Amino acid sequence: MEVNTIIETERLILRPVKETDIDDFFELDSNPNVYVYLGRKPVTTIKQSEEMVAGILQQYKEFGIGRLAIVKKDTNDFIGWSGLKYEQNLRADFNYYDIGYRLKEQFWGNGYATEAALASIDYGFNGLDLKEICAAAEIEHKVSNAILNKIGMQKTETFIYNNKLLNWYTIRNLNETSL
Ligand SMILES: CC(C)(COP(=O)(O)OP(=O)(O)OC[C@H]1O[C@@H](n2cnc3c(N)ncnc32)[C@H](O)[C@@H]1OP(=O)(O)O)[C@@H](O)C(=O)NCCC(=O)NCCS
Repeated sequence: MEVNTIIETERLILRPVKETDIDDFFELDSNPNVYVYLGRKPVTTIKQSEEMVAGILQQYKEFGIGRLAIVKKDTNDFIGWSGLKYEQNLRADFNYYDIGYRLKEQFWGNGYATEAALASIDYGFNGLDLKEICAAAEIEHKVSNAILNKIGMQKTETFIYNNKLLNWYTIRNLNETSL
């Protein structure tokens, strides 16, 4: 399956990730400040970023869904990614559609992650007709927890992953026709 989703918001364009984004992924993922709450270490080689991009392209192919690059409309800067992912690793007992976001540090604090996440949920429910979207954030990750609350997700439980305590959030599609 191909993904050619383009989502436009007031200040952003979300578009499919491309192999030409690898250098931007490296800049994003080699910054230790970005990785404080991600439960693993920042990348150190371009090869790791190539694998990251290949993983997203594989999601597109397998599931017709995946994270999208966020580009700032006014400058055309690649500022990070957001969007949906069919998550098969985080919860032991089930797979689910995850909403996530990761931005280059110089773009934090402008409401971009909130804007991208809201548009992604709208696309998931009204474009893809998903039944439910979920998210997880380490309980100490104040900013991510603030965003997930702000976009209307409900915190329903906590769980442990890799020895870290995470909050679990869900939001359901209220369109009656969704499966
Ligand atoms: C998480 C991340 C994407 C946020 O991006 P962002 O564009 O700066 O987020 P936004 O500006 O949309 O929203 C941040 C919200 O957190 C709030 N916030 C910021 N610092 C806070 C704090 N210390 N305590 C509580 N809330 C805080 C802000 O007030 C803002 O809410 P507001 O718009 O209502 O004021 C960015 O910090 C990032 O890329 N972090 C690294 C990757 C990551 O941790 N991803 C999430 C994994 S769960």
